[in-house]
Amino acid sequence: MSSHQPRPATAHRSRGLSGTATIPGDKSVSHRALIFGTLAVGETRVTGLLEGEDVLGTAQAMRAFGAQVIRTGKGAWTIHGLGVGGLMEPEDVIDCGNAGTGVRLIMGMMATCPISATFTGDASLRRRPMGRILDPLRRFGATSMGRAGGLLPLTLKGAADPVPVEYSLPVPSAQVKSAVLLAGLNAPGETVVIEREPTRDHTERMLRGFGAEVAVEDLPEGRAIRLTGRPELRPQTIAVPRDPSSAAFPVAAALIAEGSEVLVPNICLNPTRAGFYQTLAEMGADIAHEDPREEGGEPVADLRVRHGATLRGVEVPPARAPSMIDEYPVLACLAAYAEGDTVMRGIGELRVKESDRIAAVVAGLRANGVEVTEEPDGMIVHGRGQVPGGGTVATHLDHRIAMSFLCLGLGAAAPVSVDDTAPIATSFPNFMSLMAALGAEIVTA
Ligand code: S3P
Repeated sequence: MSSHQPRPATAHRSRGLSGTATIPGDKSVSHRALIFGTLAVGETRVTGLLEGEDVLGTAQAMRAFGAQVIRTGKGAWTIHGLGVGGLMEPEDVIDCGNAGTGVRLIMGMMATCPISATFTGDASLRRRPMGRILDPLRRFGATSMGRAGGLLPLTLKGAADPVPVEYSLPVPSAQVKSAVLLAGLNAPGETVVIEREPTRDHTERMLRGFGAEVAVEDLPEGRAIRLTGRPELRPQTIAVPRDPSSAAFPVAAALIAEGSEVLVPNICLNPTRAGFYQTLAEMGADIAHEDPREEGGEPVADLRVRHGATLRGVEVPPARAPSMIDEYPVLACLAAYAEGDTVMRGIGELRVKESDRIAAVVAGLRANGVEVTEEPDGMIVHGRGQVPGGGTVATHLDHRIAMSFLCLGLGAAAPVSVDDTAPIATSFPNFMSLMAALGAEIVTA
C-alpha cells in the first residue's frame, strides 16, 4: 500500500463568504449507482457521480468483479453490468482505501455468489468493525477468514447455495442494512431486514428503481424491508443528487464567518439525510430552502445561507441521529459559536467511523479553547458565541474531522490548524478550491 503523506492546513478568521457552492454528488448514492449498475444486465448511465477516492475505489472494485465501468466525461459514467449472480472472482486483493461504505456494500454484494475475494483498506478502515456485516452474511451461508475481531484484511467466500435471511439490525446502520439487502438479491425467496430506527433509504429506492420487488411494512419492533430474491435488474439512468453531508461544511462556514451569504444549490434533502438542516433551523440559523422540487426520485432544494442570526444551543433528539450521523462533527464546531449548550446523545456509532469522532471532536474543541463534556455515547458543547482558536487538531485520517475544524477556524480569534487535509479527497475533492472561491482563508503548509 502507498505511504500516506499528511498535508496540514490552517484556517484563519474570514469575513463575508459569498458566491455559489457547487457541491459534488452524494457519496452514498454514488457507491450504490456503481454497485447496482454492476448487478443489472446492460448499460447503466450515471451523471453527477462523486469522483472522490472512496467512490473511485468502488468503481475499480466493480471492474475487478467483471463489470465494464467507463468514465465518459466529468461525473459521467457507464456501467455494463453482469446481472445478479453474474459476478466474476477478482484476481487480486480489493483495496477499498478509506471507504467503510464501499467495503461493506461490496462484501454484501458478493456474499451470495460462489466466489471468494480478499478485502483490505487504509489504516483507518483496517481498524473498523466488519463483524457487524459478517454476522448476517454468514447466515446466508458465506464464510470468512480474517484478523481477530473481524478486522480487515479478510477473505470472504460467498455462499454457493445461499439461503434467504431475516435479520434485525443490532445497530442503526444503513451500511449493514444495505449489505444484507444486496446479499438477499442472489438468495432465493424473501430476505427481510428490520430496523428499529429509519436509516438512509437509498438502497431501497435504488432496488425499486432497478426493478426489484421491495415491500416496506411498519411493525411494532420497527420497519421491515422485504426483498424478493433473484430479480432481473434492469439498467437505469441515474442523476446523482448533491451530497447534503458535504454541503454541511460550506453551510456551517457561512454561519460561522461574519457577513456571509452563500447559495448551495441542488442539495438532496431526503428525510433520512436531512436531520442536520432541521437542527440548524432549531438553532435559529438563517437558511432559506429555495425552489424545493424532486430530482431523480429524491427531494432537493437550493439552500441560501446568511450569517447574522444569533445561534442558540439545542438538544438534538437521539432519534434524529441516523438522519445526520455524519454531520455531528461539523455541528459540534458550529455549536461552539452558539449561545448555550448543544446536547448530542445517542451517537455511540460515531466512535466507529473513519475515526472515533467523539474523541477527535472533543480533543479538537478543547485544543481551541472550547468547553465540551464527553460522554460514552455523546457530547455536550458549551457554546459561548465565540471561539479562542489557536490549536492544532489531529484528524486521524478522517475527512470530516479535517473539514469541520477548518470551518471552526473561519470565525476563531486565532487560527485553527489541522494536521492533515489529504483524506478530504475521499469525499469532497474540490473542498479547498470551493472554500477559497467563497473567500475562506485556508492556507496549506
Ligand atoms: C452510509 C451510512 C452511514 C454513514 C456513511 C455512509 C451509507 O454509515 O456514516 O458515511 O452510504 O450507507 P453507517 O451505516 O455505519 O451508519
